[in-house]
Amino acid sequence: MNKQNQKYDIVRPEPESLLQSTRSFGYCVETAIADLIDNSITANATKIKISFGIDRYSSFVRIEDNGKGMNEKELLNAMKVGSFNPLDDRHENDLGRFGLGLKTASFSQCRRLTVKTRNKSGKGFIRCWDLDIVKEKKDWVLLRNCVDKVSEKNLGEFSERGSGTIVLWEKLDRLMESRELKSDKEHFYRKFDNVRKHLGLTFHRFIENREIAIFVLDHELEAINPFNISDEYPSAELAEEQLSIRQQHIYIQPFILPHESKLSSNEKKNLEIVKGWTEHQGIYLYRNRRLIADGTWLDLDFRKKESQRLCRIRIDIPNTLDSEWQIDVKKASAKIPDVIRKRIRTICFTSIEKAVKVYTHRGAYLRRKGEKKEIVYLWKARQKQGKRFYEVNKDHPIYQLISEYLGEDAYVFRDYMRLIGESMPVSLIVSDFSDPSTIMKDFFESSRGELKTIYENTVSALINAGFSEDEAIKKADSIECFQQLKLN
Ligand SMILES: Nc1ncnc2c1ncn2[C@@H]1O[C@H](COP(=O)(O)OP(=O)(O)O)[C@@H](O)[C@H]1O
Ligand SMILES: [Mg+2]
Repeated sequence: MNKQNQKYDIVRPEPESLLQSTRSFGYCVETAIADLIDNSITANATKIKISFGIDRYSSFVRIEDNGKGMNEKELLNAMKVGSFNPLDDRHENDLGRFGLGLKTASFSQCRRLTVKTRNKSGKGFIRCWDLDIVKEKKDWVLLRNCVDKVSEKNLGEFSERGSGTIVLWEKLDRLMESRELKSDKEHFYRKFDNVRKHLGLTFHRFIENREIAIFVLDHELEAINPFNISDEYPSAELAEEQLSIRQQHIYIQPFILPHESKLSSNEKKNLEIVKGWTEHQGIYLYRNRRLIADGTWLDLDFRKKESQRLCRIRIDIPNTLDSEWQIDVKKASAKIPDVIRKRIRTICFTSIEKAVKVYTHRGAYLRRKGEKKEIVYLWKARQKQGKRFYEVNKDHPIYQLISEYLGEDAYVFRDYMRLIGESMPVSLIVSDFSDPSTIMKDFFESSRGELKTIYENTVSALINAGFSEDEAIKKADSIECFQQLKLN
């Protein structure tokens, strides 16, 4: 059949239903805002201001940047669903890919998206998608102005002269779930706490380099560097490796974090980021220095384990390998390309092994001669300048547990233990022992029941502190005073 005789139908998507389906790509508020910041960075913005207002009738989220802005044609294109072909080559600094982010990220959170932009010519343009208007008109009706005065006020003016873009979300049906303003507000503030952390982490390399500054309600965000937690105890860096696909380079840098006993309570908190220590172990994948995956073994066959929690591996990929890494629309997941999978698995495996070692050998474990198992003692015998003395072992699991539990107030406990250690009635004990008429009580021999209870309490305290049952038992079993329990 020649082409002229070809019969066909034109089947256009229903605007409302297509836009509705873009709402369920699985964004959350933090990934959605991060996607808008990608656009700002690609537009060379150096300052990004995020603000919001929670009100019964006109809640909004507003993101303003001082990037290069757009002319009218570019703005129209930007508002188009699918403005670019994902297969097109992108500028090497471009953080975009599918030509969807602005729309899908926004509609995942709101029903009305207004964009105001101004390029270097100084002329400003506005366009607005309102899902309810699209629904009512049954067509791709893109407004050329704000819907009403309230929206105009929310959109506001540029805070600085020069070019820039403002993105405004209104009708926040996904963010404001209940009809209760008070609980909505609380819910919203809680979510925004996570937004702050997520952005500080996702863009930490841009913030650290002072390429961008992000403000949330005029408060400047700090970078959260997942590898550099403590000034005093830097993470160990294992050798960096470079792999290539089609002459495009991938850099892999494993880090082993310092053991938590070395960190202050503030540093420990920073390390938890959003999901906690154990969850944040694994690969940190950066595409053009922007974090895509924060702590995951991706599709490798490793499970997240508490003992591996000090292992964090940085992988840097360029935007030219998107299809090999199967970067998704949200830029929130990826798959390791088969050609380098084996090598990456080996690097991860060796790094995990090293991290587990640091985690389990937390400090002063003494070993009895000829004994295989490691035993940890309550007291430590030490020698300094020819003088012998004993001190309470600060690396003892129970000592650590109590210090951690007390946090900043742990000094009271440490001081108290120091005093106990220093004021042991040594000479009395020695004379008691040397007096044959005195019978000394041996707690460990005579009170096995009590000792057993203390052992069980210790195990459950360790479990409460976040250790798995197996790990808690192993730890408690390594404590010297409990060795008696096993002699039967
Ligand atoms: N803040 C912004 N400043 C300047 N241009 C923007 C901004 N946001 C979006 N754009 C333009 O809109 C286009 C579409 O954005 P988007 O839907 O996020 O897709 P992508 O980022 O994949 O290109 C961008 O390629 C860019 O040209
Ligand atoms: Mg984008």
